[in-house]
Amino acid sequence: DKSLPKAIRIKLDNTDPDTVKLGDGKDVKGTRVRIFGRVHRERRQKENMFITLRDGYGFMQVILTGQLAKTYDALTLTRESSMEILGELRAVPEGAHAPNGRELHADYYKIVGKAAGGDEAITNRVSKDTEHATLLDLRHLTLRGETASKVMIVRDAVEFAFNFVYKELRMRKVSPPALVQTQVEGGATLFGLPYYDETAYLTQSSQLYLETCLPSMGDVFCIEKSFRAEKSLTRRHLAEYAHVEAELDFITFDDLLEHLEHVMCRVLEVTLSDPTIKQHILDLHPEFKMPERPFMRMRYSEAIDWLVEHNIDFEEEDKDKPPRPHKFGDDIAEAAERKMTDIINRPIFLTHFPAEIKAFYMPKDKEDPRVTESVDCLMPGVGEIVGGSMRMWDYDELMAAFDREKIDPAAYYWYTDQRKYGTSPHGGYGLGLERFLAWLCKQHTVRDCCLYPRYFGRCKP
Ligand code: 4AD
Repeated sequence: DKSLPKAIRIKLDNTDPDTVKLGDGKDVKGTRVRIFGRVHRERRQKENMFITLRDGYGFMQVILTGQLAKTYDALTLTRESSMEILGELRAVPEGAHAPNGRELHADYYKIVGKAAGGDEAITNRVSKDTEHATLLDLRHLTLRGETASKVMIVRDAVEFAFNFVYKELRMRKVSPPALVQTQVEGGATLFGLPYYDETAYLTQSSQLYLETCLPSMGDVFCIEKSFRAEKSLTRRHLAEYAHVEAELDFITFDDLLEHLEHVMCRVLEVTLSDPTIKQHILDLHPEFKMPERPFMRMRYSEAIDWLVEHNIDFEEEDKDKPPRPHKFGDDIAEAAERKMTDIINRPIFLTHFPAEIKAFYMPKDKEDPRVTESVDCLMPGVGEIVGGSMRMWDYDELMAAFDREKIDPAAYYWYTDQRKYGTSPHGGYGLGLERFLAWLCKQHTVRDCCLYPRYFGRCKP
């Protein structure tokens, strides 16, 4: 009965309104709903109060009018306070802007948890002028910001997409241990720790364990943490990172490259198929375009020639020595690699690295025994995001590699046994999830692609 005052009409209306998430039902208008969220922004305009509420699923503009805007709670409302609000969704007036072109005309609200104000107000603790180190100490608060939360939401979607795409390929997910007693990528970056009366390490890669699954589980993958005691502070090095790793049985090196290209592109396709996620990516990276296929293929030796032609020099470790042109055998450093990738400006499969600069398990190329069947995938803005290779599958060849690298094979009996009991040509790769995200979401550093980054000098909060 429209003649009754609004507050009484609401009381008489027994139907409890549906609770909606703030980004849901984008076209819903003219419906009474209940919402929960936190105050993202608030402003007063004449007698009215406009609140932008946030709940992780979206934003909604709420308008408090009349007495509702004059209560003590409304007058002292602080940013980040959590609220329950009931009201009617209406289209915003012509010319006005609000998320999804609508606003909630509140007829009831309650402060669930009032956020600190005054000196303690969140805006006094984190703002665009806050020092970088302080922002990192306050990661739990910066995560409430739009950029940080969008990156984390995209991360969730990408991780889901990897699982989805691997399932499309009938691959099995396994969960190898984080505490290990072997190395994969060289002793220099191992984190050691006391383990009862022994020493253990935090794993650098699950690769060796994945290889042991092939005989009975088929092609496998995992998404686990890997750890590297990197002593350098770079844009792309973390001490703890999410490692997407896969291992494929009875394949050739070309099969490996094709699979990798398929997985990366299909993951992007699946990720972007969600309109909210696509919008987040475009907000973060407006010029994002799907990579062109096939990816450019470049041999390591061609990259060395390219660097020489483009006058990108090799920086000696000994800083007293002047930079010099690159030559075959050099480990292409991060800066040079990124310069090259940025100029070429498309994904590159850089292949066939010399054995000396790669891990012990990589087999030699049949045609050119100076190099291995190895691949790095390089992306503009970030550089290497994937490292992969075929694996030595001959027992004697592997034993010689351990010998060359001065690694005692005894601890690797479970790995070398694979070559004793029905060996097979196989290969795989590891993709750094934070690096993939830094590229996709155009973030300057991988640190902004982790919930709580861990790197040289930081292990909190
Ligand atoms: O090239 P990497 O060291 O290869 C491996 O660990 C292989 N065993 C993986 C495999 O074949 N299953 O590392 C693979 C990827 C890199 O391309 C990079 O994206 C990421 O892992 N990565 C790091 N990401 C962040 N911080 C670090 N310190 C990283 N080290 C490697």
